Amino acid sequence: MKQIFSLLVISIALFNCKTTTKKEKITGLITEKAMVVSAREEASKIGVDILKKGGNAFDAMVATELALAVAYPYAGNIGGGGFMVYRKNDGEIGALDYREKAPLAAEKDMYLDDNGNVIKGKSTIGAMAVGIPGTVAGVFAAHKKFGTLSIQEILQPVIELANKGVIVTKKQEARIKKYQPAFKKANKSLIILDSVWKENDIIKYNALAATLERISKNGRDEFYKGETAERLVKFMQANGGIMTLEDLAKYEVKWRKPITFNYDDLKIISMSPPSSGGICLAQIMNGIESYDLDKFGHNSTKAIQVITEAERRAYADRSFFLGDPDFVNIPLETLISKEYTNGRMDNFSFEKATKSEDVAHGTVEMIESDETTHYAIVDQFGNAVSVTTTLNGAYGSKMYCSDLGFFLNNEMDDFSSKPGVPNMFGLIGAKANEIAPQKRMLSSMTPTIVEKDGKLWMVVGTPGGSTIITSVLQTILNVHEFGFGMQEAVNQPRFHHQWLPDVIMMEPNKFDKKTITELEKVGYKINQKDAPVIGKVEGILVLQNGKLEGGADPRGDDKALGY
Ligand code: GLY
Repeated sequence: MKQIFSLLVISIALFNCKTTTKKEKITGLITEKAMVVSAREEASKIGVDILKKGGNAFDAMVATELALAVAYPYAGNIGGGGFMVYRKNDGEIGALDYREKAPLAAEKDMYLDDNGNVIKGKSTIGAMAVGIPGTVAGVFAAHKKFGTLSIQEILQPVIELANKGVIVTKKQEARIKKYQPAFKKANKSLIILDSVWKENDIIKYNALAATLERISKNGRDEFYKGETAERLVKFMQANGGIMTLEDLAKYEVKWRKPITFNYDDLKIISMSPPSSGGICLAQIMNGIESYDLDKFGHNSTKAIQVITEAERRAYADRSFFLGDPDFVNIPLETLISKEYTNGRMDNFSFEKATKSEDVAHGTVEMIESDETTHYAIVDQFGNAVSVTTTLNGAYGSKMYCSDLGFFLNNEMDDFSSKPGVPNMFGLIGAKANEIAPQKRMLSSMTPTIVEKDGKLWMVVGTPGGSTIITSVLQTILNVHEFGFGMQEAVNQPRFHHQWLPDVIMMEPNKFDKKTITELEKVGYKINQKDAPVIGKVEGILVLQNGKLEGGADPRGDDKALGY
């Protein structure tokens, strides 16, 4: 009885998240050698099977990415783009940018009406919202540089999955239903997801299987210069889009130098521009490093204050300075230097919340939630891969090319359509992120790898639009500062501040009421309504004994698998 009572007390304490000294540990999957954590069990399994066949993390990256395009059309894709950060077992690090690009015919004001106002929906739904996809080029680039198995061997189980079909989960049933009106709005004819799909039904993706088959046979150029390219452009133009064969033929990935910085004894390796992820994460972590977060306590008033104020300042900079580094000069070294960020925190006081209008100007509201997806891989050789890939919004532009079997992104909304006007994440952009032909739109995706004492320690990332950076941050802090394991760290309630709107978003009913009252008392506005879920984190932690612990977010159908 006593035991049951104490378990109950511990569970309540964990749920309310008031404690940092937990006795009952929730542990994720532990494996000896290798692991894949992704948004769907089918994708994690295909990735792990590739590792079991002797493939490395990069082979598994190709398999997992394309399996997500089949099993998780909500965000997994071949009609979108992404970023990969890697760390090889010899310590070599790098980053691959396969972000979408603006079409050649794109123009700075393409989403504005004659009066210079943003045309609602033009950058989020339908053909005009679509950027030139980078995913197929991305997986082929990763494979060319580091892969060991043949593309045919890697794609075969993915093609089989598409032909055999994927079981509808309860969460997926709800998602499909929610977005059916938007599918009807974006497409001229009914698409596969317009049918009534119930939990445990099986959806077969035969058109996608045929597309993947051609890509497997003909290689990367099938998508960018071959029959698939021709059919895709025909579809886009028939739907009023501006994508051309030249756009596809010109698409190239970029190998980038990741952002690196130290926090205590950790070395953080994260995505560089055109993602804001690495820079913002560095700015926030630099800003909070000198505070005793562990003494304040997990999700305590003081910890939330410090993190919020560092986030406020980092997101204000994001809006002003960041864009595609091939088009704009970013003062990168300054932005991530300790001196600069420490200076930005000088005017913070525990007695009174800083006002965002005193950091910069503007008033916006959070409009819509978002989707993207992350997966983490550690292979049996010690190589690690952290990948975030996206269609931007849920099911992207909602435009589905039934002929080829996939959704197209609405990544053009990640540009700043008009300086000062928020995008779908409520993020404000400036000139640095204005639209130009062939330019990459600014991202928040933050695929991250962390070293401790020079060794691989954590692989982590998440979807969540503007909340990606702060979810990755909190997951790292949950383990490093507050002593949670990987799965526990992922499970914890999350909060988010992004400068504007000047509110702390909190997952509802998960934070201590006293903490909320204390925060409100010193001037913080709390919003527990608009973000039922913040992030959907996937992580792998290397334990002290060398084993791996997975953290698969229970907010979704996510799954860690390995051996
Ligand atoms: N589309 C979400 C992001 O790139 O941040």
